[in-house]
Amino acid sequence: MPKIVVEPARCRRCGACAHECPAEVFTLPKDGAAPRAERPERCIACGHCVALCTREAIRHADFPPGSVRRIDRDLLPGPDALMELFRVRRSARVFLDRPVPRELLEKVIEAGRLAPTAHNDQGTGYIVVQDAAELRHIAEKTAAFLGETARQLRSPVKRFIATFLMRRKIKSALMMLDSFEAVAAAAREGGDKVLRGAPCVLLFHADPGLAYPDKSAQLAVQNASLMCEALGLTCFYTGYVVGACDSGLKFKVLENMPKGHRVYAGLAIGWPKYTFQQWPDRKTAAVQWR
Ligand SMILES: Cc1cc2nc3c(=O)[nH]c(=O)nc-3n(C[C@H](O)[C@H](O)[C@H](O)COP(=O)(O)O)c2cc1C
Repeated sequence: MPKIVVEPARCRRCGACAHECPAEVFTLPKDGAAPRAERPERCIACGHCVALCTREAIRHADFPPGSVRRIDRDLLPGPDALMELFRVRRSARVFLDRPVPRELLEKVIEAGRLAPTAHNDQGTGYIVVQDAAELRHIAEKTAAFLGETARQLRSPVKRFIATFLMRRKIKSALMMLDSFEAVAAAAREGGDKVLRGAPCVLLFHADPGLAYPDKSAQLAVQNASLMCEALGLTCFYTGYVVGACDSGLKFKVLENMPKGHRVYAGLAIGWPKYTFQQWPDRKTAAVQWR
C-alpha cells in the first residue's frame, strides 16, 4: 500500500497539494491529469497536502481519516487581541502556594506540541516536574552549580582556561557572576532564586542529532508560555536550569529521558501572586529596511 495516493476521481486538479508540498513529493502531469505522489520517500508528514484538499482526494498513511480537522476561524484572535497577549505575557516570579491542575498543564504542553519544528520532526519531549522534593533538588543543585561556576571564574587561572573551553559563552558567564553568587548565597540560606518556589517545572528535551532541536524547543516554549498567560497562569524561562544542564548537570527527573537527549529549555509555571495591570514597553526594534 503506497504511503500517499491521489484519487483522480475526487481530485479537482487545483494543484495546491503539489504547489504547497515543501518536499516536492508530487508531480503535476502536463496533460491535466491528477497529481501523482511520485516521491513519497521525501515526505516530512507536514500534512499540508491533506489539509489543503477539501475533496479528500489524498489518502496519506500518516493522516488517517479524522486526523485532519476543520479550522474554526471564528475562534481565532484578531491582530489586536493577539498583540495584547504578546504585551501582557510576563515572566512573573512570585507564585501562590497552589498546584497547577494537570488539565491546564496538558493545555500548555498541547500549545508546545503545535509549534513548528525543523523538518517537522516533532522531536521535542516534555518532562513535567511537580514533586516538591524533585523541585527542591533541581533548585538546590542548580544554585550550587552556579556558585561553583562563579568561584571558578573568579580565579584568574581558571578564567583563562575557561576562555578557551567556553569560547563565546564566557562573556555572558562573566557578566552573570554576581547573579550566580546571589543565587548560590540565597540557596545556602534556604531561599530559591532558581525556580522561585514555582509548583511546577516543564522541561523541553530532544535528541541533539535532530535538525535544530534547540530552535524547535524554543518555539514550543513560546507557544507554551502564551498558553500559560491565556490560562491565567504565569511562567518564566528557567535559564539557570538549562545552563546547568548544558554544562552536564544531571537531575533525578532526567533519569527516564530518552538516551542521549538534551534539555533545551525549561519553564517554571504556577499561579501568579500579583496580577499586572500595566505592561512595560520594550526598546524600539532595531530594524533595517532594505
Ligand atoms: C533564554 C532566557 C533565559 C531566562 N532565564 C531566566 C532565569 O533563569 N530566571 C529568571 O527569573 N528569568 C529568566 N528569564 C526571563 C527574563 O528575565 C525575562 O523574559 C525578561 O526579563 C523580560 O521580562 P518578561 O518576560 O516579563 O517580558 C529568561 C528569559 C529567556 C528568554
